[in-house]
Amino acid sequence: MGEAPAREQESAHPGDGVVVTRALTKRYRGGQLAVDGLHLTVPEGSVFGFLGPNGSGKTTTIRMLMGLIEPTSGTARVLGLPMPRSARAVLPHVGALIEGPALYGFLSGRDNLLRLDAADPTADPRTRRARVATALDRVGLTAAAGKKAKAYSLGMKQRLGLAAALLRPRRLLVLDEPTNGLDPQGMREIRTLVRELASDGTTVFLSSHLLDEIEQVCTHAAVMTRGRLITQGPVAELSAGARGRLVVTTPDPADAARVLKEQGVADVVAAGDRVTGEAPERDLAEVNAALVRAGVRVRGFGVERASLEDAFVALTGEGFDVAG
Ligand SMILES: Nc1ncnc2c1ncn2[C@@H]1O[C@H](COP(=O)(O)OP(=O)(O)OP(=O)(O)O)[C@@H](O)[C@H]1O
Ligand SMILES: [Mg+2]
Repeated sequence: MGEAPAREQESAHPGDGVVVTRALTKRYRGGQLAVDGLHLTVPEGSVFGFLGPNGSGKTTTIRMLMGLIEPTSGTARVLGLPMPRSARAVLPHVGALIEGPALYGFLSGRDNLLRLDAADPTADPRTRRARVATALDRVGLTAAAGKKAKAYSLGMKQRLGLAAALLRPRRLLVLDEPTNGLDPQGMREIRTLVRELASDGTTVFLSSHLLDEIEQVCTHAAVMTRGRLITQGPVAELSAGARGRLVVTTPDPADAARVLKEQGVADVVAAGDRVTGEAPERDLAEVNAALVRAGVRVRGFGVERASLEDAFVALTGEGFDVAG
């Protein structure tokens, strides 16, 4: 056997991370700079959200991490070993779901998994059926297991791809937009599954263009825009970096908006009985008093916790719906 993934070495260097990239860059043949000098560190045991709008370079990065495409420059280490050079040593420990899982449409979901399991030389054939049944059950596909994969909906295909990634215990799961095509119930199920896997000690690296999804399930996140990393760290710290919004609930929104502007509150937006603005630096009690003095009937007054979206907007100065 060649090199083994370096679990011991990692704990000896806690800063090293399960995935570490340095100046990782990909320029496609057409000239498109899809990933630009990426320094990424994914801590062991984290649920790491890789967040960015469409076209920001998430899938390209994941394809480089999995050794599917070569970087133009820079390095990527997965489980302590360089990729793509150590792909054969690393990949058996990594479960991956990447855009459009490769499935045989003419086979049932169950037979697709049996086939994939059989392709794994380390998988014991005697326990194959049980392994496949467990994986199908974990992703909620048991009832549809006998149906041909070509008759699966997009969400069912995603689930089958996920089941394939779960066929054996993994140290790292890499999931590219795992909730793509799923309805809200399906998205909840995947979030629960990700939390379960993480509590078993698996590091989960998942990409998404949905900010609230990342906030709900991830311990850490990195934010990409146009191929560049703009921030990474614990989710709580990322959103703490942005100031929250002042929210006033009132039956007099027009007056409230006017008074807030007079009080120096920026970006005032009135919608229904809610008037919001950027939380000012000054004492909020004064702002509240000014509203009351002006005869505004204040039913609610407070600062909403900043979301990851606020942090993104604060960092990039643009909304989250940009394309690369
Ligand atoms: N094979 C390719 N050849 C040329 N350009 C590509 C190729 N694949 C992706 N790109 C370009 O690279 C950039 C990043 O694409 P990528 O698929 O990595 O983004 P993404 O963040 O995964 O987006 P999405 O959220 O839509 O999945 C985009 O501008 C895209 O058009
Ligand atoms: Mg993608």
